[in-house]
Amino acid sequence: MLNINDNEEEKSSYHSLLPIYPLLAQQCVDDYRLENGICIDIGTGNGYMGTEIAKITHMSIFYVDIEPKGLEFARHTVEEANIDNEVSFVEADVCRQLPFKDNFADFIISRGSLWFWEDRVKGIAEVYRVLKMGGKALIGGGLGRYLPGSMRARLMEGRKNMLEKKGVKKPSGKELQDMALQAGILSFKILRDSPEQKTGTWIEIHKYVEKVG
Ligand SMILES: C[S@@+](CC[C@H](N)C(=O)[O-])C[C@H]1O[C@@H](n2cnc3c(N)ncnc32)[C@H](O)[C@@H]1O
Repeated sequence: MLNINDNEEEKSSYHSLLPIYPLLAQQCVDDYRLENGICIDIGTGNGYMGTEIAKITHMSIFYVDIEPKGLEFARHTVEEANIDNEVSFVEADVCRQLPFKDNFADFIISRGSLWFWEDRVKGIAEVYRVLKMGGKALIGGGLGRYLPGSMRARLMEGRKNMLEKKGVKKPSGKELQDMALQAGILSFKILRDSPEQKTGTWIEIHKYVEKVG
């Protein structure tokens, strides 16, 4: 099995997360009524998010990552999944400029990547630029709402130690809110996977159709 991580601890941590991707993809399909159109998976890494969305929609998937190694892994995931969707692999830094025109994507997902972005405000502004009018984006990290609570608690415990060791500090909901406002975005919500377990913080961005007259 190809793996984006050289570190054994990270490999097994990634492996333990495998059940979350189909559940999170189903959550996105349910919440945003995904069916057709363009989906971009930013910071795709292993390519699991985009691929699980592909399996249950007719969407064209653009896998984006700053690291060629991430895209190599994503290609491998796509090959193994045997999907029919149109797919593209794009090496790009979300904090600079995504190589897509304005109003391009129907849905943008970015899981577990924002913490690594050098300029998060610019990255969020790029997501908004590329999103179609009426489109939605979900950026953040977590395991999704559909995961059973006991499994969530167990997986979060394992991840917490690993992220702490890597010195990764996830922004709070308030910090995500401030980033969106600094990016000039007003139409967003901060979401939690599970308020009781205080895990998983996301920003959901909605690009509204502007009314004329
Ligand atoms: C922890 S992995 C998450 C992978 C996958 N999305 C998931 O949910 O398992 C973070 C990914 O974000 C990518 N990344 C980090 N900074 C980025 C940037 N500025 N633009 C695009 N991708 C970036 C990394 O290369 C890495 O593949």
